Amino acid sequence: MVTLDSRPEVQAAPQSPDDVPGWFWPLDQQLFGWLLERQTAAGMRGDLLEMGSYLGRSAILIGRHRQPGEAFTICDLFDSDAPDGDNAAEMTMSYRETLTRAAFERNYLAFHAELPTIVQAPTSALAGGVLPAGSCRFAHIDASHLYEHVAGDIQTARAALADGGIVVLDDFRSPHTPGVAAATWEAVFAHGLRPICVTPEKLYGSWADPEPLQRELRLLDGDVDGCNLDVDVIAGQPVLRFSGPGVARLMPPSSCTAPTPPAARSTARSTARRLALDLLPPVAARAVRRGLRSVREHAA
Ligand SMILES: C[S@@+](CC[C@H](N)C(=O)[O-])C[C@H]1O[C@@H](n2cnc3c(N)ncnc32)[C@H](O)[C@@H]1O
Repeated sequence: MVTLDSRPEVQAAPQSPDDVPGWFWPLDQQLFGWLLERQTAAGMRGDLLEMGSYLGRSAILIGRHRQPGEAFTICDLFDSDAPDGDNAAEMTMSYRETLTRAAFERNYLAFHAELPTIVQAPTSALAGGVLPAGSCRFAHIDASHLYEHVAGDIQTARAALADGGIVVLDDFRSPHTPGVAAATWEAVFAHGLRPICVTPEKLYGSWADPEPLQRELRLLDGDVDGCNLDVDVIAGQPVLRFSGPGVARLMPPSSCTAPTPPAARSTARSTARRLALDLLPPVAARAVRRGLRSVREHAA
């Protein structure tokens, strides 16, 4: 990954998704691609959701799998205020120097003709049924690492996910994010989340039976030089574990990256800006709901 100065005024558009700073590594890129493609191939339709997008590294890949009629909603504070002091400290320490919404938009539009629906607000603005129940097939949770926030994000994802939908939790076992670990395992043991597999950074789960997915993953050539696929049993339930410095061969590398789209970028930009929602605290959740509904109507 190339680390670039992300100030919009000095940074050129990235040539490859790997030029976008972030924390989204090849093994997870492969798993995202494999899972999203599998859903599409199986005829599953539903919206896509990301909480915590930073400069767009993971959103760019997720957006590549959006199908006609599907919405892709991303929620991030970007350069607006955090809702509490601990979250503000987290933002200052990790993101403030590099993160702007303009930089996210520039990076995303280097690979896609349209922006996703952008909710620039704390993820709590999506709570309480703001996203239609059961509307999503895939949710990536990668915003605040504080327990209270992540626990809320998991409930938001749970309500928004369709039957068989997949949730991915970032940093569920990183040394500096015990709050994510607490919220993740609470979801497993108290709220019925079923782990499918884990990588060094992420836990992939569902509220549906994980066995069919696990069976397919085990049949793939994921256990290769430098990447091990093991099976752990947690409270009687198998969980696949990818480990090692290498990368599983789940998909050809070209399937994991997003090519630069042809032309159409400048016209798309104005459409995209219309679609993007400007939501800053203390805008009420009702306003978010209204905004998302109108974007959905535009997209239909
Ligand atoms: C780890 S970064 C996301 C990385 C990104 N998914 C990637 O793969 O490159 C976390 C993001 O969450 C955002 N964030 C932190 N707290 C938030 C909150 N309470 N609500 C919404 N976004 C938040 C930050 O602005 C930051 O962009």
